[in-house]
Amino acid sequence: MTDFKEYTAAEKQAVSDINKCSSADELENIRVKYIGRQGLLKDLFSQMGKSPEKERPARGRELNRIKKKLTDLMEKRKSEFVSSCKKEDIFDPTLPPPLIERGKIHPVRKVLNEVENIFRSMGFGVAYGPDVETEYYNFTALNIPENHPARAMHDTFYVKGYKNTLLRTHTSPVQVRVMEKKKPPYKFIAPGRCYRRDTVDASHLPVFHQVEGLMVDCNVTFADLKGVLHLFAKRMFGSKVKTRFRPSFFPFTEPSAEMDISCGICKGKGCPSCSYKGWLEILGAGMVDPEVFSHCGVDSDKWQGFAFGMGIERIAMLKYDIHDLRLFIQNDLRFLKQF
Ligand code: PHE
Repeated sequence: MTDFKEYTAAEKQAVSDINKCSSADELENIRVKYIGRQGLLKDLFSQMGKSPEKERPARGRELNRIKKKLTDLMEKRKSEFVSSCKKEDIFDPTLPPPLIERGKIHPVRKVLNEVENIFRSMGFGVAYGPDVETEYYNFTALNIPENHPARAMHDTFYVKGYKNTLLRTHTSPVQVRVMEKKKPPYKFIAPGRCYRRDTVDASHLPVFHQVEGLMVDCNVTFADLKGVLHLFAKRMFGSKVKTRFRPSFFPFTEPSAEMDISCGICKGKGCPSCSYKGWLEILGAGMVDPEVFSHCGVDSDKWQGFAFGMGIERIAMLKYDIHDLRLFIQNDLRFLKQF
């Protein structure tokens, strides 16, 4: 019985080397080692001469079988290296550059930009104030009384270790900061972040954005307020939108109002989006209270004006029919890519 032990061992080793090798260069070395002109298989063929004559045909067949097997296997590996190399290593200067996925403007920023553009086009400037405010600017100068619930620890973030210091709960302190520094007339908006001690849910976030507006001149009336805000609503939500003003109360405006827009989903008929009211509240506004002017050194006999404040997330929710505020901060690309 012919013993192919030596052949089998060589075959096994060669197959394992071929499978293990990781580059075309390595593969070429393996080829030389096993089936090259001075390779192992060649040796085995030569040694065949020393074996008994009647074994030789079987040995020859076996060695040829191994040679073919190794050749085929090496061909297969080689083509694998070539195809993987095509993908990663070959630089083809004629190909167009790879597409870079670009980020997008966050929907809150996008709406903020739109609000800014609308008011800029009506001649409003843009002012900024600090996020960390004092009780004076956030409350006192705005005629918010000492015992007002908004001042309570459970509504407002106070800054530990700093007396009377807090994270602003609205953008209204910017009104005071500007009026205190410059003489009227004023016509500006003040966008920015606001903070309230709310637990996160579908309609509350502890950090959100507002845009404040202030227009003061010698003959500004409630009609100007209505005209400006109505035009804003049309530019923001489309020319078919209707607006209405409801009486309201803010300590820093008198009279005060809230503005509603007609529901864009049901066109005012009533649907789940507007809680079957046909209207959606979008902002608070009013004529600047003379008490606020006096804190800022503005003569209320000579000057009058209006102020308004709106939540940007709220505007974005109404514009895009979004029902959960949390979507704005979850960074889910499936949501963000839609804007
Ligand atoms: N600051 C008010 C709020 O946060 C909004 C407002 C601003 C109302 C200006 C009237 C005038 O609710």
